[in-house]
Amino acid sequence: MAPSHDDVISRLTLEQKAALTAGADFWGTAAFPDAGVRRIVTADGPHGLRVVSDIGIGGAAPATCFPPAVGLGSSWNPELQHAVGAAIGREALALGVDVVLGPGINIKRSPLGGRNFEYVSEDPLVSGAFGAALVQGVQSVGAGTSVKHFAVNNQETDRMHVSAQVDERTLREIYLAGFERVVKEARPTTVMAAYNRVNGEYAAQHPWLLTTVLREEWGFDGVVVSDWGAVTDRVASLRAGLDLKMPLPGGGDEVVRAVREGRLDEAVLDRAVGRLLELAERTDASQHGPAAPDPGEHHGLAASAARESAVLLKNENAALPLPERGSSRIAVIGEFARTPRYQGAGSSQVVPTRLDTPLDALTDILGDRVGFAPGFTLDGDQEEDERLLAQAHALAAGADHVVLFLGLPDTAESEGFDRTAIELPANQRALIEAVARATRRVVVVLSNGGVVETASWEGRVRAILEGWLLGQAGGTAIAELLLGRANPSGKLTETIPVKLADTPAHLNFPGAEGEVVYGERVYVGYRYYDTLGVPVSYPFGHGLSYTRFAYSDLVVEGRGDGASVSFTIANTGDVAGAEVAQVYRSDAHSGVDRPAHELVGFRKVFLEPGASERVTIELGSRAFAYWSTARRGWVVDAGEFTLEVGASSRDIRLTGAVHVDASGPARLLTRFSSIGEWLADPVGAQLLQGALAQLPGTESFGLDPSTNEGRMFLAIPLGHMLGFLPGAPEGAADQLVAAYEQAVRAR
Ligand code: BGC
Repeated sequence: MAPSHDDVISRLTLEQKAALTAGADFWGTAAFPDAGVRRIVTADGPHGLRVVSDIGIGGAAPATCFPPAVGLGSSWNPELQHAVGAAIGREALALGVDVVLGPGINIKRSPLGGRNFEYVSEDPLVSGAFGAALVQGVQSVGAGTSVKHFAVNNQETDRMHVSAQVDERTLREIYLAGFERVVKEARPTTVMAAYNRVNGEYAAQHPWLLTTVLREEWGFDGVVVSDWGAVTDRVASLRAGLDLKMPLPGGGDEVVRAVREGRLDEAVLDRAVGRLLELAERTDASQHGPAAPDPGEHHGLAASAARESAVLLKNENAALPLPERGSSRIAVIGEFARTPRYQGAGSSQVVPTRLDTPLDALTDILGDRVGFAPGFTLDGDQEEDERLLAQAHALAAGADHVVLFLGLPDTAESEGFDRTAIELPANQRALIEAVARATRRVVVVLSNGGVVETASWEGRVRAILEGWLLGQAGGTAIAELLLGRANPSGKLTETIPVKLADTPAHLNFPGAEGEVVYGERVYVGYRYYDTLGVPVSYPFGHGLSYTRFAYSDLVVEGRGDGASVSFTIANTGDVAGAEVAQVYRSDAHSGVDRPAHELVGFRKVFLEPGASERVTIELGSRAFAYWSTARRGWVVDAGEFTLEVGASSRDIRLTGAVHVDASGPARLLTRFSSIGEWLADPVGAQLLQGALAQLPGTESFGLDPSTNEGRMFLAIPLGHMLGFLPGAPEGAADQLVAAYEQAVRAR
């Protein structure tokens, strides 16, 4: 029988325990075989594996490169995401990796975020559902995960020091909610603490984040590992709840000294070591049998994932699909057709096992009907660009259809810096103009990790397929989608704004002088655009198909402090396809300001032509709740909520009303509650009226809310009001509050 953790810990010296809570090298922990402690090995992901020996970005062992989160997230398909996770887990075990450093589920606060390609959505429900599916997939085969970057790591500018200044409600509803879901639903083996500070404290030494919220409230029982280099104070990190500082040894002496001098309780160190021992057990490959990944099979899965990840933004006059048969000539223009952009730059860069290009895939199917011109250079060489433009124009003029492959070159976005603009590079915008002068039959395929602006050029083209970054099999998937062998079914997980100045964080991104203020609060993404009615190019949740879907027969029913929503979706077109139905909740009565509507559920439905399916989505109280700062909890204010079912945040097809009961901690009156609030509470009203009756002259008080005087009085806090009354005894407010609390407790 394996020795208990306590036995193992008792066999380790203080120095060994300190050493275990830091890396032994760049990617793994120390081993103490005599004490029964094995090494734990980590590797980046998250959309494939990057097994390297040092900090280097290149030189990794080949692994299947699945679509990064910006792509796979757009599939809105948790089963697919789970399957990709399992494949990544199998490859991890085969490469000797215990913990895959992903998924990354930070909110896309601004389209400028340099690492948006590695993140899922502007919405926490979509991010959390993706994260949970991916974690469950990886862990289903026995490998571990690291959900990152906890928390509020929404920019690359000054990422290792900047303090995100965020109010608690915004934190809870937007920036923590995705992590909460993953922790509660998928029990990730590790969570990675971010580089940045949150309200002044480093995330990697933040007791409230790492202990109060993550462990005590959400029940996280795994290891908290630092982002690489995020620990600035070893002792403070351990105390706050961080278990493993990565990478490299360092700070061990400091930890030993702190224990010896009584500044760090040894039990804190033992607890971290215990969690690491548990992690070694949970990820022990020998318990899970041999994992033999088949590169061909995984490439096929990468292709399925890519097919579901692309989003058809626009398709005027059914410009797509292109005719697979016949003799029409197809001009493929754009360097990305030949040199695909299929993943982002930085620590997540995978060396793929193979790489499909759209040009090869199209040529394989269409043969010499395909002509190619690169159209532009990736590095913006002006002279060469002019030559390529003329060549592309000539090719377009002689073709029946043009497919333009545009997007962001590798140099435009990466981990480590944010973007400063959302336009396509100038040479590509010039190319659109030149090609549009030659023909109207232009279809654009985009390859980009961060959103690009489409408003200034989309009028020149008939269709746009947003390919994001699609991983190593993206080339094949794009060809199949363009030719109708596959039907697009991805939907936007982030809004495409008309222009950068319209974006909610515009005035507050990326901050300055070590601080970034989250001034837009909970109004992130569509929550902002839809509340203010700001025009957008393509709304959150949007995505077209080669078929059509009809929504009908909505039934909404209250279920205490939750509800159930049912509706029917039918494929009314001619080809098989899939629709992502979305449920939004809107709230006109609660006691706080709220976005016009918020996504509370979704379902992807696959339907043959003519087929239909009844969908039921159960909504718990969280779908209706807001985080009450005053009441310190999730609160549902009883009343009627509206539930909307639609194909995007701006394409609502069905609407119903539902009564939901109250839930959450009670609202307690204090000396700062207004006279109006005291009078609105039955217990408070009785006590206050009783107290006022003792005071001479108060009977003439006008407390009628229909008069200006009454409104003024009713708005005054109890303590202040009693201070205005000469006859009120000292401490009257405190006495009232005490009497109120006693009466409420006795209820
Ligand atoms: C990144 C992490 C990554 C780690 C290890 C950091 O710079 O922020 O996402 O897992 O490096 O490469």
